[in-house]
Amino acid sequence: MKVFTQKSELKSEIKTLKSQAKTIGLIPTMGALHEGHLSLVRRSISENDCSVVSIFVNPTQFNNKEDLVNYPRTLEKDLELLQTISDDIMVYTPSVEDIYDEGVVSTQFDFDGLEHEMEGKFRAGHFDGVGTIVKRLFEIVTPDNAYFGEKDFQQLAIIKKMVAKHNIPVNVVGCEILREPNGLAMSSRNVRLKPQYAEAAPFIYKTLTAAKAQFGTKSALEITQWVENEFLKQELLELEYFTIAEEDSLKTAQNINKQKTYRAFVAVFADDIRLIDNIALN
Ligand code: PAF
Repeated sequence: MKVFTQKSELKSEIKTLKSQAKTIGLIPTMGALHEGHLSLVRRSISENDCSVVSIFVNPTQFNNKEDLVNYPRTLEKDLELLQTISDDIMVYTPSVEDIYDEGVVSTQFDFDGLEHEMEGKFRAGHFDGVGTIVKRLFEIVTPDNAYFGEKDFQQLAIIKKMVAKHNIPVNVVGCEILREPNGLAMSSRNVRLKPQYAEAAPFIYKTLTAAKAQFGTKSALEITQWVENEFLKQELLELEYFTIAEEDSLKTAQNINKQKTYRAFVAVFADDIRLIDNIALN
């Protein structure tokens, strides 16, 4: 496994691979790898000649300083996990300086309004930070395919929008959410859950599946009110938002149009850990 800390070295390796007409898959991560990430890596390996995993806790996408400081950093373990999949993976673990050589600031993007929905209402500047780092990684790695999990569905939609608006020649692949046996969506943040919160957290997916069962018989508003009430009964979990939104615009659905596809999205605090999840409704 080749580990690069300098973009110059990675770029030179990529240049050689491209000259041999090799295809490249990129899996951008912030580390603390779990089975969800590994499934993206396996998919990339099966669809590309070479795969690059980036591991970088991107400061510009954190709207909360404490969250940035506490974000789990487990590089040694991450490398061991990747090694169990393949010896052929290239890993890029840059310093902040290697990525942000012109200052640790975000570019301001216009994602045609997608950035103002859901997460955008609670995490000011987050999607500018995500757009900045992902665009940077695309420029450095020049991948043919890039893999992202659907747990961050809004992020995935925004990255697809950025690629289309900036004519970036990469195929963005969305991959389904991986869950723990109890239904909790896999996330790097799960390792920080205290035991009683880890025990309470599967309630999130249980409620999403119950909401899905009501879709088609109740209105979006009725389902939303039902979910909000369910969370009020849950002492350990604090609902930040639940919304049923149309998949393309990510706008909260007022009336359901059977020609369109919808998802339910949720953000919840389990103590100081913020968890998000979503489910396809139709
Ligand atoms: O989803 C994540 O882990 C991050 O937002 C990403 C895409 C790696 C950008 O830092």
